[in-house]
Amino acid sequence: MSRNEIAPTSPVDPDSSRSADVATHPLDPLSAAEVEVCVEVAREAVEIGPRTRFVLASTLEPVRGEEDGGRRAELLVHQPERRSVVRVIVDLERGEAAEVETIEGVEPALGLDEVERFEVAMRADPRFQAALKRRGIDDPATVDIDPVPVGYYGLPEEDVERRLVRVLAYERPTDLASNAYAHPLEGLFGLVDLNTCEIIQLEDRDPVPLPPGDGEYRPENLQLREDVRPIHIHQPEGPSFEVDGYRVRWQNWDLRVGFNSREGLVLHDVSYNDGGEERSVLRRASIAEMVVPYGDPDRFYQSPLDIGELNVGTMTNSLTLGCDCLGAIHYFDVATVAADGGAVTIPQAICLHEEDDGILWKHSDFRTGTIDVRRGRRLVISNIVTVGNYEYGFFWYLQQDGMIACEIKATGIVATQALEVGEETEYGKLVAPGLNGIHHQHVFCARLDFDLDGGPNSVTETRTETTPKGADNPHGNAWKTVTRTFTSESEAIRDLDISEARSWTVVNPERRNAVGQPVGYRLLPGDNTVPFATPDSSLRSRAAFVNHHLWVTPYDPAERYPAGEFPYQHRGGDGLPSWTAADRPIEGTDVVVWYTMNHHHVPRPEDWPVMPVAKIGFMLKPWGFFDRNPGLDVPPTASGEGSCHA
Ligand code: NI
Repeated sequence: MSRNEIAPTSPVDPDSSRSADVATHPLDPLSAAEVEVCVEVAREAVEIGPRTRFVLASTLEPVRGEEDGGRRAELLVHQPERRSVVRVIVDLERGEAAEVETIEGVEPALGLDEVERFEVAMRADPRFQAALKRRGIDDPATVDIDPVPVGYYGLPEEDVERRLVRVLAYERPTDLASNAYAHPLEGLFGLVDLNTCEIIQLEDRDPVPLPPGDGEYRPENLQLREDVRPIHIHQPEGPSFEVDGYRVRWQNWDLRVGFNSREGLVLHDVSYNDGGEERSVLRRASIAEMVVPYGDPDRFYQSPLDIGELNVGTMTNSLTLGCDCLGAIHYFDVATVAADGGAVTIPQAICLHEEDDGILWKHSDFRTGTIDVRRGRRLVISNIVTVGNYEYGFFWYLQQDGMIACEIKATGIVATQALEVGEETEYGKLVAPGLNGIHHQHVFCARLDFDLDGGPNSVTETRTETTPKGADNPHGNAWKTVTRTFTSESEAIRDLDISEARSWTVVNPERRNAVGQPVGYRLLPGDNTVPFATPDSSLRSRAAFVNHHLWVTPYDPAERYPAGEFPYQHRGGDGLPSWTAADRPIEGTDVVVWYTMNHHHVPRPEDWPVMPVAKIGFMLKPWGFFDRNPGLDVPPTASGEGSCHA
């Protein structure tokens, strides 16, 4: 065992446990057996042609108030010949189609099957081979061809009758497991018809030499540091959580773990047992959409909506004990559908574990000498997806102080451009000699269906105001907060403003805490900024959630994705801007909060050849939800040197 190995990595490690094929609740993820049932049902209900593709199979979550309808699934079947998607709702208990709807003129998310197909076709195309020869490449098998969803820019080549993708190429000149992004084939760009694999456009500019570095990150090719000693997390009595199927109970928290092929990890029915009373907090929480817009005019089309255009759930990694998660782990397996209709099981897709979280609270009474320290811990629920060059980890934390936090960990390899050594551009930064990291942002939109104490809920905005110097504030130090309640959707389209410490709180106006305030949870933003594409850009219409940090809508089961159900090749305007145009009332109802967070990525040399994790997220902090510190009853731990209460 090398010094760097920190724990056994066997998936059958006795410290780990798994949930698989135990789906029984209407919100549970589909099992592989259920995916097979869905496909059988769809084969009966839908005309299957030679090019028919199965795009997505996920649990269809019950509409609020209709939870008794049993388990249902949603299957999307792509019929490229007809340019349509058939949505089949499957009643899993009866094993039959409950609804079959054909949606014309939409394009589903891009599938890996399509990427594999066009890559083979392009490598065989004489024009592409000629372009490779110009760059001294004889073997097209050494070239990776990455897809970029084509978006919509109103260009003549964006023939709306075709299903299109733009492509970028990279070479692995040393071995086929080396870092392709070290060697972009600059100036070689394509536009491909995904249905026919025909290259519609192949732009072959003057070649730029391959950057000199190899971008190597594999340990066998590096000199590794030798002073990392093992670290083991021991939980001799097992973890403090209980798992029953997909239901989890931990430290007063109760929730259901969910998953779908589009968003990946979902939390359902998050509630807190407050002195014997089960109090609901969130009905549902997910990252519902994301977009990664690039800021180079030459790459105007590079702004993939990874969730809606690529179904990130299907790109979920199988996690490894001791590597992705540490400690006593419970894994949840999930299942998706392959394009040919086969069920695909992703073992150990979602990881549940506890982490030490530093000090929860502390006080030393300097007069009496009594010391009280409580160690905090948090429950971590996470999954990780690989989207081409990037990895995204979606982490949700539940804490003993009533806090819920969401953290997205971005890692992997930055998107690169080759430049002549010594050249630079205004729209990126050199990360290695001859290798440019293009300016870009990663913008995520969280969909938070609140249910504080069963509702009704409202959303308030609080600003802080300085009292003008004068009779009321003779020394100029005074400030106060002013709170108002949003009454309609248009009022609640808001942006962060640190100049007034602007903050947003979800409250239940019908339930008061011990000091008479409405119980609430406040949204605490983390890293954020604004979009830098122009207001009339395609990006800001197609992914309009990027335009504002906060949106609030009344719950509508049809409003699931902030850039719309079918964003692939969509012209824009769907989702949040179209729903909120109705300016519906949102006060004292079942509210859904949409929070946009924007990670501004100006690449640096330290991001190369693989990027250390960058984090972006937010917290939901109890704001008068409890009558006192909810972590007061956490017992003092016995430390090796005595007690944390002395
Ligand atoms: Ni980035």
